[in-house]
Amino acid sequence: VEIRRASDADWPALWSIWHEVVAAGETYPWDPEADETIARNHWMPPAPAETWLAESDGDVVGTYIVSANRPGLGAHMATASFMVASKARGKGAGRALGEHCLERAKSLGYQGMQFNAVVETNTSAVALWQALGFVIVGTVPAAHRHPTHGLVGIHIMHRSL
Ligand SMILES: CC(C)(COP(=O)(O)OP(=O)(O)OC[C@H]1O[C@@H](n2cnc3c(N)ncnc32)[C@H](O)[C@@H]1OP(=O)(O)O)[C@@H](O)C(=O)NCCC(=O)NCCS
Repeated sequence: VEIRRASDADWPALWSIWHEVVAAGETYPWDPEADETIARNHWMPPAPAETWLAESDGDVVGTYIVSANRPGLGAHMATASFMVASKARGKGAGRALGEHCLERAKSLGYQGMQFNAVVETNTSAVALWQALGFVIVGTVPAAHRHPTHGLVGIHIMHRSL
């Protein structure tokens, strides 16, 4: 995959991935029926946050956003979110985006990265983040209403950069 910054022209492709992921309700807390305006405000945030995407044979297959996790005195810590189109999963795009994001966050000067809400039943994501050096700091019980598993926990995950 080729990884590059997303521009406004990429939004339709990103919306399609965002909608598919959010509508499933398994990995993000957004209302599964959230509309395109909500999606765009979330996934195309203003600078200094950044939106990146992965392309394979001209198709947008995945995307991430990276930003400061907290304002002011917490702004040296990054956070990030990732989405890969279901048809493109399991082929390395998520790992490539994760590795790219860590490099990018480091070059932007962040000292660490924190994921605030990794749904504990999202085993492929948890395994990927652990493989990339993240540890589970703790788990907030029953914080996500999963469509099939019911109330499940969310992990806070962290690694230094
Ligand atoms: C999580 C996600 C980004 C991973 O993307 P992907 O392109 O499928 O990931 P990859 O193909 O690069 O796989 C990376 C790792 O994930 C894990 N993984 C992938 N598919 C898996 C599966 N079906 N079961 C268990 N682990 C799996 C493996 O640890 C794999 O390790 P490897 O690189 O040593 O093979 C993708 O599944 C996704 O977008 N899911 C929906 C949204 C989401 O969960 N976002 C993250 C929220 S924290």
